[in-house]
Amino acid sequence: MTSAPSPEGNLRDLLQSKSIVICCGPGGVGKTTTAAAIGLMAAVRENKKVLVVTVDPALRLSDALGVDRLGDQPSRIELSGLQGSGKGELWASMLNTSLAWDNLVRRYAPDQATIEKILSSTLYANVSRRFVQSHDYVAAERLYELHQDGDYDLIVIDTPPSRHAIDFLDAPSKMAEFFSSKLLRWILAPYRSRWVGLASRPFTQIADRILGGAFLAEVAEFFYLFHSMYEGFITRSTAVENLLADPACAFVVVTTLSPGPRHEASYLIRELGQRGFHLAAIVANKVLPSYLADPVGRAAAARLRQDHEAISAAVAPQAGLESEILSGVLAELARNYRDYSHVALREAEERGRLGFAKCPVLDVAHLEHDIDDVFGLAEMGEMFWPQRGSQQS
Ligand SMILES: Nc1ncnc2c1ncn2[C@@H]1O[C@H](COP(=O)(O)OP(=O)(O)O)[C@@H](O)[C@H]1O
Ligand SMILES: [Mg+2]
Repeated sequence: MTSAPSPEGNLRDLLQSKSIVICCGPGGVGKTTTAAAIGLMAAVRENKKVLVVTVDPALRLSDALGVDRLGDQPSRIELSGLQGSGKGELWASMLNTSLAWDNLVRRYAPDQATIEKILSSTLYANVSRRFVQSHDYVAAERLYELHQDGDYDLIVIDTPPSRHAIDFLDAPSKMAEFFSSKLLRWILAPYRSRWVGLASRPFTQIADRILGGAFLAEVAEFFYLFHSMYEGFITRSTAVENLLADPACAFVVVTTLSPGPRHEASYLIRELGQRGFHLAAIVANKVLPSYLADPVGRAAAARLRQDHEAISAAVAPQAGLESEILSGVLAELARNYRDYSHVALREAEERGRLGFAKCPVLDVAHLEHDIDDVFGLAEMGEMFWPQRGSQQS
């Protein structure tokens, strides 16, 4: 189902009053690159002090920014040589999930002994690294922390390469759910009541016989310790969720115009709306130039496909070329044009399917080279962040 065309706009104007930008979307579409390009433009063009936080284990951002290895601590990115770089500052950091978890435990566990017991538990390593949405939760949590510190005018966060783009939005509530879940209560029950402890003992013994050692007891003890952080986690995950819904926080959905990613992006956009999160714009990345879908160009290519022999016969002698070779080249050219224009038409259809979002869809062309330095990022940024004075705001 297609809908009305999307409104016009650019990221410079749409993000003007924002202090947090969250780049989310399906995997591999250019989220990390877009996050870095947005950060760069806000620093260079608007003279803001910007932090870009990436969670991407592929270390794309570190490559893109020419930094060998980004740490958890923000490092400043060299902007000299870029047109317009003035007072603005670009900082970048890479989220370290296990360090972020350790910090959460240190913050919320009631005392030093509990902190040490949790951190040294073998189960802790498994839970913190394998817990579904672990990356997503700590990313959202770290965003909250950085925002509270107030060191930057703008924080741009790149979301983790999760199975589903929606996971990032759900992470805070999933964390709260986890702490108050029935399973957790059931595991903890023997520790809370003597009576239940005795009642569940035969089961525990059987399970231990099957699983080996005092497995269940160990699990229960671990969760008991973990549960001591309940209050902190619940309060904090609510605060994180509120921050995501704050008017100063904008989401930018990045997608390509291939059917699969576009479909996932549409789902994400609906979910953002249902949660009351503010979607500033959609970035349609790696798209073909729109002229390829132009009927005049398509008609010319169709004619060339049909008449390439006659055209070659007429033109080749004047150009001093062999007619047969020229004919082959023109036929190939016409076929390529047709193929590309098919893709461009399909992309236009997919773009139409994003019209329901009622926010601008900003096209970013597929550059011929990989984007692996600040100049490449600036080239990308140009496509959604016009220079002041060059366009009506
Ligand atoms: N507009 C573009 N033109 C050319 N290459 C791009 C463009 N956008 C992203 N890329 C490249 O695509 C790859 C994936 O981008 P990345 O930002 O890491 O995606 P994601 O974070 O969504 O997984 C990178 O190699 C990046 O340089
Ligand atoms: Mg990425």
